[in-house]
Amino acid sequence: MTHIPIVDLLQSEALHQEFTVKGWVRSFRSNQFIAINDGSCLKNLQCVVDFENTDETILKRINVGAAIVINGTLEESQGGRQRVEIKVKDIQIEGDADPEEVKLTILSPKRHSLEKLREQAHLRVRTNTFGAIMRLRSKLSFAVHEYFNKNGYFYAHTPIITGSDAEGAGEMFRVSALDPENPPKNEDGSIDYSKDFFGKETNLTVSGQLEGETYALGLGKIYTFGPTFRAENSNTSRHLAEFWMIEPEMAFCDLDGNMDVAEDFIKYVINYALENCQEDLEFLETRLIQEDKSKPQAERAPMALRDKLKFIVDNNFKRVSYTEAIDILRNSKPNKKKKFKYPINEWGADLQSEHERYLVEKHFNCPVILFDYPANIKAFYMRLNEDGKTVRAMDVLFPGIGEMVGGSQREERLDVLKEKMAALDISEEELSWYLDTRKFGTCTHSGFGLGFERLVLFVTGMTNIRDVIPYPRFPGSAEF
Ligand code: 4AD
Ligand code: MG
Repeated sequence: MTHIPIVDLLQSEALHQEFTVKGWVRSFRSNQFIAINDGSCLKNLQCVVDFENTDETILKRINVGAAIVINGTLEESQGGRQRVEIKVKDIQIEGDADPEEVKLTILSPKRHSLEKLREQAHLRVRTNTFGAIMRLRSKLSFAVHEYFNKNGYFYAHTPIITGSDAEGAGEMFRVSALDPENPPKNEDGSIDYSKDFFGKETNLTVSGQLEGETYALGLGKIYTFGPTFRAENSNTSRHLAEFWMIEPEMAFCDLDGNMDVAEDFIKYVINYALENCQEDLEFLETRLIQEDKSKPQAERAPMALRDKLKFIVDNNFKRVSYTEAIDILRNSKPNKKKKFKYPINEWGADLQSEHERYLVEKHFNCPVILFDYPANIKAFYMRLNEDGKTVRAMDVLFPGIGEMVGGSQREERLDVLKEKMAALDISEEELSWYLDTRKFGTCTHSGFGLGFERLVLFVTGMTNIRDVIPYPRFPGSAEF
Protein backbone atom coordinates (compact mmCIF):
# COMPACT_ATOMS: atom_id res chain seq x y z
CA MET A 1 0.00 0.00 0.00
CA THR A 2 1.48 3.40 -0.95
CA HIS A 3 1.24 6.13 1.63
CA ILE A 4 1.69 9.87 1.69
CA PRO A 5 4.25 11.61 3.92
CA ILE A 6 2.62 13.81 6.54
CA VAL A 7 4.65 16.81 5.36
CA ASP A 8 2.84 16.60 2.00
CA LEU A 9 -0.55 15.85 3.44
CA LEU A 10 -0.44 18.94 5.67
CA GLN A 11 0.01 21.06 2.53
CA SER A 12 -2.59 19.22 0.50
CA GLU A 13 -5.73 20.85 -0.85
CA ALA A 14 -7.32 17.49 -1.78
CA LEU A 15 -10.20 17.67 0.70
CA HIS A 16 -12.52 14.64 1.05
CA GLN A 17 -10.05 12.43 -0.83
CA GLU A 18 -8.79 9.21 0.64
CA PHE A 19 -5.20 8.80 1.87
CA THR A 20 -3.05 6.30 3.73
CA VAL A 21 -0.57 7.54 6.32
CA LYS A 22 1.93 5.59 8.36
CA GLY A 23 3.73 6.75 11.45
CA TRP A 24 4.19 6.55 15.20
CA VAL A 25 1.61 7.59 17.76
CA ARG A 26 2.61 10.68 19.71
CA SER A 27 -0.61 10.97 21.70
CA PHE A 28 -4.15 9.63 21.83
CA ARG A 29 -6.74 11.84 23.54
CA SER A 30 -10.39 11.22 24.46
CA ASN A 31 -10.40 7.87 22.67
CA GLN A 32 -10.76 9.97 19.55
CA PHE A 33 -7.78 12.13 18.54
CA ILE A 34 -4.58 10.44 17.46
CA ALA A 35 -1.52 12.61 16.85
CA ILE A 36 0.80 10.73 14.56
CA ASN A 37 4.26 11.68 13.39
CA ASP A 38 6.21 10.04 10.58
CA GLY A 39 9.41 12.06 10.83
CA SER A 40 8.84 13.86 7.52
CA CYS A 41 8.26 17.11 9.42
CA LEU A 42 7.95 18.49 12.90
CA LYS A 43 4.16 18.65 12.94
CA ASN A 44 1.94 15.74 13.85
CA LEU A 45 -1.10 14.81 11.85
CA GLN A 46 -4.39 14.70 13.73
CA CYS A 47 -6.46 11.64 12.90
CA VAL A 48 -9.99 11.51 14.25
CA VAL A 49 -11.36 8.10 15.16
CA ASP A 50 -15.02 7.22 15.23
CA PHE A 51 -14.56 5.26 18.47
CA GLU A 52 -18.12 4.03 18.63
CA ASN A 53 -17.59 2.11 15.42
CA THR A 54 -14.03 0.98 16.03
CA ASP A 55 -13.04 -2.36 17.46
CA GLU A 56 -12.26 -2.00 21.18
CA THR A 57 -9.15 -4.17 20.92
CA ILE A 58 -7.72 -1.88 18.26
CA LEU A 59 -8.45 1.24 20.33
CA LYS A 60 -6.55 -0.31 23.25
CA ARG A 61 -3.49 -0.75 21.07
CA ILE A 62 -3.29 2.90 19.96
CA ASN A 63 -0.56 3.69 22.44
CA VAL A 64 2.24 6.25 22.42
CA GLY A 65 5.13 4.87 20.39
CA ALA A 66 3.13 2.32 18.39
CA ALA A 67 3.52 2.19 14.62
CA ILE A 68 0.15 2.53 12.91
CA VAL A 69 -1.32 2.63 9.45
CA ILE A 70 -4.32 4.85 8.93
CA ASN A 71 -6.68 5.05 6.03
CA GLY A 72 -9.11 7.92 5.83
CA THR A 73 -10.27 11.11 4.15
CA LEU A 74 -8.65 14.51 4.37
CA GLU A 75 -11.02 17.01 5.98
CA GLU A 76 -10.94 20.59 7.15
CA SER A 77 -10.23 20.47 10.86
CA GLN A 78 -12.89 21.51 13.34
CA GLY A 79 -10.38 22.37 16.04
CA GLY A 80 -8.34 25.55 15.67
CA ARG A 81 -4.96 23.90 16.03
CA GLN A 82 -4.59 22.57 12.50
CA ARG A 83 -5.86 23.30 9.02
CA VAL A 84 -6.61 19.72 8.06
CA GLU A 85 -7.04 16.34 9.70
CA ILE A 86 -7.77 12.79 8.69
CA LYS A 87 -11.18 11.29 9.32
CA VAL A 88 -10.25 7.70 10.01
CA LYS A 89 -11.87 4.86 8.04
CA ASP A 90 -9.53 2.10 9.00
CA ILE A 91 -6.64 1.62 11.46
CA GLN A 92 -4.06 -1.11 11.53
CA ILE A 93 -1.47 -1.54 14.22
CA GLU A 94 1.81 -2.44 12.57
CA GLY A 95 3.95 -2.46 15.72
CA ASP A 96 2.68 -2.31 19.29
CA ALA A 97 4.34 -0.36 22.09
CA ASP A 98 3.61 -1.56 25.62
CA PRO A 99 2.63 1.50 27.70
CA GLU A 100 4.24 0.07 30.83
CA GLU A 101 7.55 -0.21 29.05
CA VAL A 102 7.20 3.07 27.18
CA LYS A 103 6.77 4.77 30.56
CA LEU A 104 10.36 3.86 31.40
CA THR A 105 11.76 5.49 28.27
CA ILE A 106 12.13 8.96 26.84
CA LEU A 107 9.18 8.19 24.56
CA SER A 108 6.89 8.87 27.51
CA PRO A 109 5.27 12.23 26.91
CA LYS A 110 6.94 14.52 29.43
CA ARG A 111 10.05 16.72 29.52
CA HIS A 112 13.30 14.77 29.60
CA SER A 113 16.73 16.30 30.12
CA LEU A 114 19.20 16.30 27.23
CA GLU A 115 21.42 14.04 29.32
CA LYS A 116 18.61 11.51 29.64
CA LEU A 117 17.93 11.72 25.90
CA ARG A 118 21.62 11.10 25.20
CA GLU A 119 21.44 7.85 27.17
CA GLN A 120 18.64 6.69 24.87
CA ALA A 121 20.11 8.04 21.66
CA HIS A 122 18.40 5.27 19.69
CA LEU A 123 15.00 6.68 20.66
CA ARG A 124 15.70 10.41 20.88
CA VAL A 125 15.20 10.95 17.17
CA ARG A 126 11.49 10.36 17.84
CA THR A 127 11.30 13.51 19.96
CA ASN A 128 10.48 16.92 18.49
CA THR A 129 13.86 18.38 19.41
CA PHE A 130 15.96 15.63 17.87
CA GLY A 131 13.69 15.25 14.89
CA ALA A 132 14.28 18.94 14.18
CA ILE A 133 18.05 18.72 14.75
CA MET A 134 18.52 15.67 12.57
CA ARG A 135 16.36 17.00 9.73
CA LEU A 136 18.45 20.18 9.85
CA ARG A 137 21.65 18.16 9.86
CA SER A 138 20.48 16.34 6.75
CA LYS A 139 19.42 19.55 4.97
CA LEU A 140 22.72 21.22 5.84
CA SER A 141 24.69 18.30 4.35
CA PHE A 142 22.69 18.68 1.20
CA ALA A 143 23.43 22.42 1.14
CA VAL A 144 27.15 21.66 1.47
CA HIS A 145 27.08 19.47 -1.61
CA GLU A 146 24.88 21.93 -3.45
CA TYR A 147 27.25 24.83 -2.76
CA PHE A 148 30.32 23.04 -4.06
CA ASN A 149 28.53 21.48 -6.99
CA LYS A 150 27.17 24.87 -8.07
CA ASN A 151 30.62 26.42 -7.81
CA GLY A 152 32.54 23.92 -9.92
CA TYR A 153 34.10 21.72 -7.21
CA PHE A 154 34.44 17.96 -7.50
CA TYR A 155 33.66 15.70 -4.55
CA ALA A 156 36.79 13.68 -3.76
CA HIS A 157 36.62 10.58 -1.58
CA THR A 158 39.82 10.53 0.42
CA PRO A 159 40.68 7.38 2.37
CA ILE A 160 39.47 6.68 5.90
CA ILE A 161 42.36 4.35 6.65
CA THR A 162 45.66 6.12 6.14
CA GLY A 163 49.34 5.41 6.43
CA SER A 164 50.18 9.05 7.18
CA ASP A 165 49.33 11.62 9.83
CA ALA A 166 48.14 14.75 8.04
CA GLU A 167 48.53 17.15 10.93
CA GLY A 168 51.97 15.90 11.90
CA ALA A 169 50.98 15.82 15.53
CA GLY A 170 47.44 14.43 15.57
CA GLU A 171 46.57 11.74 18.04
CA MET A 172 45.30 8.85 15.99
CA PHE A 173 43.34 5.65 16.35
CA ARG A 174 45.39 2.67 15.25
CA VAL A 175 43.87 0.32 12.69
CA SER A 176 45.20 -3.19 13.04
CA ALA A 177 44.17 -6.75 12.26
CA LEU A 178 46.90 -8.32 14.38
CA ASP A 179 45.98 -10.69 17.19
CA PRO A 180 46.10 -8.40 20.25
CA GLU A 181 46.85 -11.40 22.49
CA ASN A 182 49.81 -12.51 20.51
CA PRO A 183 51.13 -9.94 18.04
CA PRO A 184 54.25 -10.67 15.96
CA LYS A 185 57.29 -9.00 17.49
CA ASN A 186 60.52 -7.49 16.22
CA GLU A 187 63.80 -8.55 17.77
CA ASP A 188 63.69 -5.56 20.12
CA GLY A 189 60.29 -6.68 21.42
CA SER A 190 58.24 -4.01 19.63
CA ILE A 191 55.23 -5.00 17.53
CA ASP A 192 56.11 -5.98 13.95
CA TYR A 193 53.58 -4.10 11.85
CA SER A 194 55.11 -5.38 8.63
CA LYS A 195 53.08 -8.53 9.42
CA ASP A 196 49.87 -6.51 9.84
CA PHE A 197 47.07 -6.39 7.25
CA PHE A 198 48.55 -3.53 5.23
CA GLY A 199 52.18 -4.44 5.85
CA LYS A 200 52.66 -1.24 7.84
CA GLU A 201 51.21 0.86 10.64
CA THR A 202 47.88 2.39 9.70
CA ASN A 203 45.42 4.75 11.38
CA LEU A 204 41.98 6.28 10.99
CA THR A 205 42.37 9.59 9.19
CA VAL A 206 42.47 12.87 11.14
CA SER A 207 41.95 14.85 7.92
CA GLY A 208 41.69 14.21 4.20
CA GLN A 209 43.73 17.31 3.41
CA LEU A 210 46.99 15.89 2.10
CA GLU A 211 45.24 13.51 -0.29
CA GLY A 212 42.80 16.33 -1.08
CA GLU A 213 45.71 18.57 -2.13
CA THR A 214 46.89 16.00 -4.65
CA TYR A 215 43.39 15.94 -6.13
CA ALA A 216 43.08 19.74 -6.28
CA LEU A 217 46.36 19.75 -8.21
CA GLY A 218 44.66 17.71 -10.91
CA LEU A 219 40.97 18.53 -10.77
CA GLY A 220 41.39 22.20 -9.84
CA LYS A 221 38.78 22.53 -7.13
CA ILE A 222 37.73 19.66 -4.89
CA TYR A 223 36.09 19.11 -1.53
CA THR A 224 35.85 16.20 0.83
CA PHE A 225 33.00 15.57 3.24
CA GLY A 226 33.44 12.58 5.45
CA PRO A 227 34.18 11.23 8.91
CA THR A 228 37.48 12.06 10.60
CA PHE A 229 38.87 10.74 13.86
CA ARG A 230 40.88 12.21 16.70
CA ALA A 231 42.07 10.25 19.70
CA GLU A 232 42.72 13.40 21.73
CA ASN A 233 41.43 13.37 25.26
CA SER A 234 39.20 16.43 24.87
CA ASN A 235 36.12 15.96 26.99
CA THR A 236 34.38 19.18 25.98
CA SER A 237 31.08 20.31 24.51
CA ARG A 238 32.94 21.21 21.27
CA HIS A 239 34.97 18.03 20.63
CA LEU A 240 34.13 14.59 19.32
CA ALA A 241 36.45 11.65 18.69
CA GLU A 242 34.56 10.99 15.44
CA PHE A 243 33.31 14.01 13.55
CA TRP A 244 32.46 14.94 9.98
CA MET A 245 34.70 17.39 8.24
CA ILE A 246 34.27 19.35 5.02
CA GLU A 247 37.59 20.13 3.35
CA PRO A 248 37.67 22.16 0.14
CA GLU A 249 41.01 22.57 -1.63
CA MET A 250 41.58 24.99 -4.50
CA ALA A 251 44.47 25.18 -6.97
CA PHE A 252 45.62 28.68 -7.98
CA CYS A 253 44.02 30.20 -4.89
CA ASP A 254 45.79 32.24 -2.20
CA LEU A 255 44.85 32.95 1.41
CA ASP A 256 42.56 35.87 0.54
CA GLY A 257 40.71 33.67 -1.94
CA ASN A 258 40.53 30.97 0.72
CA MET A 259 38.94 33.35 3.22
CA ASP A 260 36.45 34.48 0.57
CA VAL A 261 35.41 30.87 -0.08
CA ALA A 262 35.07 30.06 3.62
CA GLU A 263 32.86 33.09 4.25
CA ASP A 264 30.75 32.62 1.14
CA PHE A 265 30.30 28.91 1.84
CA ILE A 266 29.23 29.35 5.46
CA LYS A 267 26.76 32.08 4.51
CA TYR A 268 25.33 29.91 1.76
CA VAL A 269 24.59 26.91 3.95
CA ILE A 270 23.19 29.01 6.78
CA ASN A 271 20.96 30.85 4.34
CA TYR A 272 19.88 27.51 2.89
CA ALA A 273 18.71 26.46 6.36
CA LEU A 274 16.84 29.75 6.83
CA GLU A 275 15.06 29.29 3.54
CA ASN A 276 14.37 25.56 3.70
CA CYS A 277 14.02 24.63 7.36
CA GLN A 278 11.67 27.33 8.66
CA GLU A 279 9.51 25.08 10.78
CA ASP A 280 12.32 23.24 12.55
CA LEU A 281 14.27 26.46 13.14
CA GLU A 282 11.21 28.14 14.59
CA PHE A 283 10.71 25.20 16.93
CA LEU A 284 14.34 25.27 18.08
CA GLU A 285 14.18 29.04 18.50
CA THR A 286 11.14 28.75 20.77
CA ARG A 287 12.81 25.96 22.68
CA LEU A 288 15.83 28.20 23.35
CA ILE A 289 13.66 31.10 24.47
CA GLN A 290 11.91 28.77 26.93
CA GLU A 291 15.23 27.43 28.17
CA ASP A 292 16.63 30.93 28.60
CA LYS A 293 13.77 31.90 30.89
CA SER A 294 15.31 29.81 33.65
CA LYS A 295 18.70 31.52 33.23
CA PRO A 296 20.00 34.79 34.65
CA GLN A 297 19.73 37.71 32.20
CA ALA A 298 23.48 37.79 31.51
CA GLU A 299 23.51 34.20 30.28
CA ARG A 300 20.59 34.52 27.90
CA ALA A 301 21.14 34.55 24.17
CA PRO A 302 21.34 38.14 22.93
CA MET A 303 19.43 37.31 19.73
CA ALA A 304 16.69 34.89 18.74
CA LEU A 305 18.03 31.93 16.76
CA ARG A 306 16.84 32.98 13.32
CA ASP A 307 17.92 36.60 13.86
CA LYS A 308 21.35 35.33 14.80
CA LEU A 309 21.53 33.27 11.60
CA LYS A 310 20.32 36.22 9.50
CA PHE A 311 22.96 38.40 11.08
CA ILE A 312 25.66 35.98 9.93
CA VAL A 313 24.33 35.93 6.39
CA ASP A 314 23.97 39.73 6.15
CA ASN A 315 27.26 40.90 7.66
CA ASN A 316 30.91 40.65 6.68
CA PHE A 317 33.16 38.52 8.82
CA LYS A 318 35.86 40.63 10.43
CA ARG A 319 39.38 39.77 9.16
CA VAL A 320 42.11 40.36 11.71
CA SER A 321 45.75 39.33 11.72
CA TYR A 322 47.10 37.29 14.61
CA THR A 323 49.39 40.21 15.49
CA GLU A 324 46.46 42.64 15.73
CA ALA A 325 44.53 40.09 17.77
CA ILE A 326 47.38 39.74 20.24
CA ASP A 327 47.44 43.52 20.71
CA ILE A 328 43.71 43.58 21.37
CA LEU A 329 43.97 40.69 23.81
CA ARG A 330 47.01 42.05 25.61
CA ASN A 331 45.21 45.32 26.26
CA SER A 332 41.86 43.73 27.07
CA LYS A 333 40.15 44.09 30.44
CA PRO A 334 40.19 40.37 31.29
CA ASN A 335 43.90 40.19 30.52
CA LYS A 336 44.73 43.22 32.66
CA LYS A 337 42.52 41.98 35.47
CA LYS A 338 44.13 38.53 35.19
CA LYS A 339 40.82 36.92 34.33
CA PHE A 340 42.25 34.72 31.56
CA LYS A 341 43.43 31.31 32.63
CA TYR A 342 46.23 31.73 30.10
CA PRO A 343 47.35 35.39 30.29
CA ILE A 344 48.52 36.94 27.02
CA ASN A 345 51.96 38.40 27.55
CA GLU A 346 53.78 38.20 24.31
CA TRP A 347 53.53 37.64 20.59
CA GLY A 348 53.72 33.95 19.76
CA ALA A 349 51.28 32.67 22.37
CA ASP A 350 48.84 30.05 21.16
CA LEU A 351 45.27 31.29 21.43
CA GLN A 352 43.00 29.37 23.78
CA SER A 353 39.25 29.22 23.42
CA GLU A 354 38.83 31.88 26.15
CA HIS A 355 40.80 34.29 23.92
CA GLU A 356 38.91 33.35 20.78
CA ARG A 357 35.63 33.85 22.56
CA TYR A 358 36.68 37.22 23.93
CA LEU A 359 37.53 38.43 20.43
CA VAL A 360 34.34 37.14 18.85
CA GLU A 361 31.78 37.62 21.61
CA LYS A 362 33.07 40.68 23.47
CA HIS A 363 35.32 42.67 21.16
CA PHE A 364 34.03 42.28 17.59
CA ASN A 365 30.61 40.75 18.16
CA CYS A 366 30.61 38.94 14.83
CA PRO A 367 32.44 36.06 13.17
CA VAL A 368 36.17 36.76 12.96
CA ILE A 369 38.77 35.36 10.59
CA LEU A 370 42.20 35.39 12.20
CA PHE A 371 45.12 35.02 9.81
CA ASP A 372 48.92 35.03 9.61
CA TYR A 373 49.66 33.00 12.72
CA PRO A 374 53.14 32.33 14.13
CA ALA A 375 54.69 29.47 12.17
CA ASN A 376 55.63 27.44 15.20
CA ILE A 377 52.07 26.99 16.51
CA LYS A 378 50.73 25.77 13.14
CA ALA A 379 51.09 22.69 10.91
CA PHE A 380 54.10 22.02 8.66
CA TYR A 381 52.28 22.46 5.34
CA MET A 382 51.27 26.10 5.80
CA ARG A 383 52.94 28.67 3.57
CA LEU A 384 55.69 30.68 5.21
CA ASN A 385 55.29 34.45 4.86
CA GLU A 386 58.10 36.74 3.71
CA ASP A 387 58.70 37.77 7.35
CA GLY A 388 59.99 34.26 7.98
CA LYS A 389 58.02 33.88 11.21
CA THR A 390 54.33 33.79 10.30
CA VAL A 391 52.38 31.43 8.06
CA ARG A 392 49.41 32.01 5.78
CA ALA A 393 47.00 30.30 8.15
CA MET A 394 43.44 31.28 8.94
CA ASP A 395 40.88 30.26 11.54
CA VAL A 396 37.24 31.28 11.34
CA LEU A 397 35.90 31.93 14.83
CA PHE A 398 32.19 31.95 15.63
CA PRO A 399 30.25 33.31 18.59
CA GLY A 400 29.33 30.58 21.04
CA ILE A 401 31.38 28.05 19.12
CA GLY A 402 34.97 29.22 18.86
CA GLU A 403 36.89 27.68 15.97
CA MET A 404 34.56 26.69 13.15
CA VAL A 405 37.17 26.53 10.39
CA GLY A 406 40.92 25.98 10.21
CA GLY A 407 42.79 26.39 6.96
CA SER A 408 45.72 27.88 5.11
CA GLN A 409 47.49 28.63 1.91
CA ARG A 410 49.82 25.67 1.40
CA GLU A 411 53.60 25.78 1.14
CA GLU A 412 54.11 25.19 -2.56
CA ARG A 413 57.92 25.61 -2.59
CA LEU A 414 59.62 22.22 -2.42
CA ASP A 415 62.78 23.42 -0.68
CA VAL A 416 60.92 25.40 2.00
CA LEU A 417 58.55 22.49 2.62
CA LYS A 418 61.41 20.03 2.98
CA GLU A 419 63.21 22.31 5.42
CA LYS A 420 60.08 22.57 7.53
CA MET A 421 59.59 18.81 7.53
CA ALA A 422 63.19 18.21 8.50
CA ALA A 423 62.87 20.68 11.39
CA LEU A 424 59.79 18.84 12.64
CA ASP A 425 61.27 15.40 12.02
CA ILE A 426 58.61 14.44 9.50
CA SER A 427 59.79 11.65 7.23
CA GLU A 428 60.28 12.66 3.57
CA GLU A 429 60.07 9.06 2.59
CA GLU A 430 56.62 8.59 4.08
CA LEU A 431 55.33 11.74 2.37
CA SER A 432 57.22 11.35 -0.92
CA TRP A 433 53.90 11.20 -2.76
CA TYR A 434 52.91 14.54 -1.19
CA LEU A 435 56.25 16.10 -2.10
CA ASP A 436 55.74 14.97 -5.71
CA THR A 437 52.97 17.58 -6.05
CA ARG A 438 55.64 20.22 -5.38
CA LYS A 439 58.00 18.67 -7.89
CA PHE A 440 55.63 18.35 -10.81
CA GLY A 441 53.83 21.58 -11.59
CA THR A 442 53.56 22.99 -8.10
CA CYS A 443 51.26 25.99 -7.73
CA THR A 444 49.71 28.35 -5.25
CA HIS A 445 46.89 26.49 -3.53
CA SER A 446 44.74 26.74 -0.44
CA GLY A 447 42.05 25.00 1.51
CA PHE A 448 40.35 24.67 4.84
CA GLY A 449 38.48 22.27 7.07
CA LEU A 450 35.10 22.98 8.61
CA GLY A 451 33.85 20.81 11.45
CA PHE A 452 30.34 19.92 10.34
CA GLU A 453 29.01 19.32 13.87
CA ARG A 454 30.19 22.78 14.95
CA LEU A 455 28.16 24.23 12.09
CA VAL A 456 25.11 22.16 13.05
CA LEU A 457 25.62 23.26 16.66
CA PHE A 458 25.55 26.91 15.61
CA VAL A 459 22.55 26.57 13.32
CA THR A 460 20.42 24.60 15.79
CA GLY A 461 21.46 26.72 18.77
CA MET A 462 22.25 23.58 20.75
CA THR A 463 25.09 23.84 23.25
CA ASN A 464 26.60 20.36 23.33
CA ILE A 465 28.17 18.82 20.23
CA ARG A 466 27.00 15.40 21.45
CA ASP A 467 23.45 16.47 20.66
CA VAL A 468 23.95 17.20 16.96
CA ILE A 469 25.33 13.83 15.78
CA PRO A 470 23.23 10.66 16.02
CA TYR A 471 25.69 8.56 18.02
CA PRO A 472 28.46 10.68 19.55
CA ARG A 473 31.89 9.17 20.20
CA PHE A 474 33.97 10.78 22.93
CA PRO A 475 36.48 9.65 25.56
CA GLY A 476 34.97 6.77 27.52
CA SER A 477 31.94 6.36 25.29
CA ALA A 478 31.14 4.52 22.09
CA GLU A 479 27.61 3.37 22.87
CA PHE A 480 25.33 1.97 20.16
O1 4AD B 1 41.81 22.88 12.52
P1 4AD B 1 41.78 21.44 12.08
O2 4AD B 1 42.50 20.46 12.89
O3 4AD B 1 42.33 21.49 10.57
C1 4AD B 1 42.58 20.43 9.79
O4 4AD B 1 42.34 19.27 10.05
C2 4AD B 1 43.08 20.82 8.43
N1 4AD B 1 43.71 19.66 7.82
C3 4AD B 1 41.93 21.35 7.60
C4 4AD B 1 42.34 21.77 6.23
O5 4AD B 1 43.04 22.76 6.09
N2 4AD B 1 41.92 21.05 5.20
O6 4AD B 1 40.26 20.97 11.94
C5 4AD B 1 39.36 21.66 11.11
C6 4AD B 1 38.05 21.91 11.82
C7 4AD B 1 38.16 22.76 13.07
O7 4AD B 1 38.17 24.13 12.76
C8 4AD B 1 36.91 22.34 13.82
O8 4AD B 1 35.77 23.01 13.31
C9 4AD B 1 36.78 20.88 13.46
O9 4AD B 1 37.51 20.68 12.26
N3 4AD B 1 37.32 20.01 14.52
C10 4AD B 1 36.56 19.28 15.34
N4 4AD B 1 35.23 19.16 15.45
C11 4AD B 1 34.75 18.31 16.39
N5 4AD B 1 35.53 17.59 17.21
C12 4AD B 1 36.89 17.67 17.15
N6 4AD B 1 37.65 16.92 17.95
C13 4AD B 1 37.45 18.55 16.16
N7 4AD B 1 38.71 18.86 15.82
C14 4AD B 1 38.61 19.74 14.80
MG1 MG C 1 42.52 24.11 13.99
